[in-house]
Amino acid sequence: MSAAREHFGSRLGFILAAAGSAVGIGNLVAFPVAATKSGGGAFLLVYALFVILICLPVMMAELALGRHTDKDPVGAYRTLSGGSKLWQIPGWLALITPFMIAVFYLVVTVWVLGYLVETLGGNLDRLATEAYFNQFINSPSVFVYLIALMLLINGILALGVKDGIERAAKTLMPMLFAILIGLVAFVLTKENAILGVQYYLIPDFSKLTPDVLSSAMAQAFFSLSLGMGILITYGSYMESHQSIPGSAKVVALTDTMVAFTAGLLILPTIFHFNPQIDPTELSDSSAGMIFLFLPKIFLALQDSIGYVGASAFAAVFFFLVLVAAITSLVSIIEVPVATLRDERGMDRRKAIYTVGAVQVVLAAFCAVSFGMVQWFTEFVTLAGANKSFFDLVEIIFYDTILPLNGLLVCLFVIYRWKKANFDQELQDGAPGFAGSFSQRYVNFALGTFIPVFLLLIFINTVALKFFGISFF
Ligand code: PFF
Repeated sequence: MSAAREHFGSRLGFILAAAGSAVGIGNLVAFPVAATKSGGGAFLLVYALFVILICLPVMMAELALGRHTDKDPVGAYRTLSGGSKLWQIPGWLALITPFMIAVFYLVVTVWVLGYLVETLGGNLDRLATEAYFNQFINSPSVFVYLIALMLLINGILALGVKDGIERAAKTLMPMLFAILIGLVAFVLTKENAILGVQYYLIPDFSKLTPDVLSSAMAQAFFSLSLGMGILITYGSYMESHQSIPGSAKVVALTDTMVAFTAGLLILPTIFHFNPQIDPTELSDSSAGMIFLFLPKIFLALQDSIGYVGASAFAAVFFFLVLVAAITSLVSIIEVPVATLRDERGMDRRKAIYTVGAVQVVLAAFCAVSFGMVQWFTEFVTLAGANKSFFDLVEIIFYDTILPLNGLLVCLFVIYRWKKANFDQELQDGAPGFAGSFSQRYVNFALGTFIPVFLLLIFINTVALKFFGISFF
């Protein structure tokens, strides 16, 4: 007889774990920069609408799939596919995608850990040079940090859903909120900080081009950990008396609030450093911001708070990003672990060793894609440009397959599993949801314009990334 399925111990535990997954590097850096460059308050408004109108229904669909079947994504799709082999494909995609996203996200997290250690060692001045970044990411120490990180994350996972994932979230998430608020409060007292707030919030609707809308959508989707099998897996650890719509709303709100608050940290810090700065020139990539741009700004803080103060500020910031990334990685690595347990009957430990071993190797391939090994650095040519192994993983799984997975979740839930069954699952634990406007909206949207919208994003990404054709 198989052991009883593990569950989160409380609603709060589930919410913090899911919020831990959602709050990641994307929230702390990518969101503020995208908002600033793409219309400030206008972007914030559109982003909020995407979260409410598009992402929330998808989130409910994923949670309901998991909770109803009590299974990992592969098992969830198989159970409800009615024997159709074709409908099992989304299950496999919802396994491979998190597996591979974890691989490139691990590498960026390794760099964050490395930068944290350097700032603690008093080397902020070194970090503030571009040459250092290239030297660091190509140094053997990345492998040491990679092993340390894997041990930490898998150590949390080895303790199980309640004593590992939930306990870590209950400790780390309040800490993350406190640190973020503390940093914002501190930086808002600095000269010219308010200019950053203004730039961040004042709306400019002329910047809302189709391209911006598409990337706001992708950002919201990624930020809420959709399309990665995570919420199917976490849904399977939810008790049936807990409200899926209610919990999903709290998770989405928390994630969006953290992203919004991060803007109140990043922009004022930048404007304190240079009130004349043109934020449209900021790097588009989170990595560019975290490792090349922000260290310079942190170093410049020494003029007002001294070198030690500036180093402490930088260390707290890197720690914040590290905590956010770790809780995200915990959730994403749990997906293949759950699949090996459910589908292959492995025990938790064996599943962790198996997943961990393959991931370390693939993450190492990504880590050497920045010059250490030429073959991985110039792995393929896409749309006329050289792409490394790291780039390729990001383009295939993050840019391309993520919206496809979202699209397949919607179609599967509404047209294969069927609306009535989905509704029934949502009503368990949320009796008030039955017959409500929200219920009608969720049903309608998931079966109509959300998949169409995600399909357009998917087609546009494939055209752009693989063939260099831009529709917008
Ligand atoms: N919501 C996460 C973020 O914004 O960074 C998305 C995510 C990425 C979750 C990577 C998990 C993960 F491993």
